[in-house]
Parts: sequence; C-alpha cells; structure tokens
Amino acid sequence: MNREKILKIRDIQLSATVFTVKNLVEDSLGKIVFIGRFNVGKSSFINKMINRKNFARTSSRPGKTISINYYLINKMCYFVDLPGYGYARISKKESQRVRTLISTFFEKVENVKLVVVLIDSRRGFMDSDKEILSKIINKGFRMLTVLTKSDKLRNSELVIQKKNLQNQYGLNVIAFSIKSTDDEKREKILKYINKALME
Ligand code: GTP
Ligand code: MG
Repeated sequence: MNREKILKIRDIQLSATVFTVKNLVEDSLGKIVFIGRFNVGKSSFINKMINRKNFARTSSRPGKTISINYYLINKMCYFVDLPGYGYARISKKESQRVRTLISTFFEKVENVKLVVVLIDSRRGFMDSDKEILSKIINKGFRMLTVLTKSDKLRNSELVIQKKNLQNQYGLNVIAFSIKSTDDEKREKILKYINKALME
C-alpha cells in the first residue's frame, strides 16, 4: 500500500500575473512549475489538481495564457502556470516575448521543487518542446512528464507513447485525462508533488 501523503489543498490564491521579466516574483517559497506547448492542457490540469472548475483560465482558443500566473497554495508554496510556447499564429514579436519570459523565469527562479512538463499524448515531443526542455534539463530540476488528453488515444497507443518518452529521454511519465472520473491518478500526482515539496 502506498502510504505517502497527498498534498491537501486548503487555500489557493492567484498571487501574481506576470507579463514582463521585471515583474517576475522573487521569493524563496517552493515552486511547482507547469510547462508545455500552447493548448496542451496546462490550465485544465492545474484546475483538476486544485479541484476548482475554472480557477486557472482555460480556453479552446490557443495562446490564452500569455502571462506567468503564480497560484499560492496553502500560503506555503506556488503552482506556477507558464504561458504555452510553440504557437505559430501569434506574431514573431509576441512569441519571442513569451520565449524570453520563460527562459528568464528559469534563469532567475529560486527553489523549484518540481517541473511538471505537459505533453499532448497525441503529439509526443515536438521541436519546440526540445528547445525549451533542453534548458530545463541542463538546470537539473526534478521533472515529471504528464501526457495530457489521454482520453483521445487508444490504450495501446498510449503505452507506446509512454515507452518512447521513457526510453528516449529517461523521463518519469504519467498519462492523464481531465475527463476521467477516477481520482487515483490525481492522487498519485498530488502525492508526487507533496513528496517533491518535502525534499
Ligand atoms: P494555453 O494557456 O493557451 O497555452 O493552453 P493550456 O495549455 O493552458 O490549455 P487549456 O487548459 O486551456 O486547454 C486547452 C483545451 O484542451 C481546452 O479546450 C480543454 O478543455 C482541452 N483539454 C484539456 N485537457 C484535456 C483532456 O484531458 N482531455 C480532453 N479531451 N481535452 C482536454
Ligand atoms: Mg493556459
């Protein structure tokens, strides 16, 4: 039996919405950082974790979150929702702004406990993922890879996708769907997050 504790979310506040590098939050609270391509399901995933319907704003229109949103959890750590990268249909200037914001965030950020990398289970790793992730991997952060929208794939396809990422990149991978009514995976991830926060 798994006796690890899950993170119980009692209190949550949107504590900062940051559009520019100079406004990045500089404090030493532990941070769980969520990152992934546009429309991969980051905000939906955070909502599922915190058990709130639309706290982190979601959209079927890509490129919704163009800011970094810091959610203060139990007044003791942050969940950080990063803007999606890799969206072709915003201007070059805007996409450069997002890339600079993300890379400066990783240069300056203190006390990252875990980076949750979200990958669309239908697409796998794309070039834009590799570009951004190579920077994170070099920093040596603890990582968890979540294959999102797993309801869109057959189980056999999901297994292959999971193995690919595990074998090629040595990643810790879990498949997830916000449509699932089964709470087991959510609890597993919240345990993993809690463990990361404690260490
Ligand atoms: P940006 O902030 O724009 O980069 O997007 P995001 O990564 O935050 O994605 P968001 O959570 O806004 O979700 C994008 C779309 O995918 C929405 O229409 C969600 O309802 C849908 N979506 C997210 N997770 C799942 C999932 O597990 N299954 C299915 N079928 N759809 C999902
Ligand atoms: Mg979002």
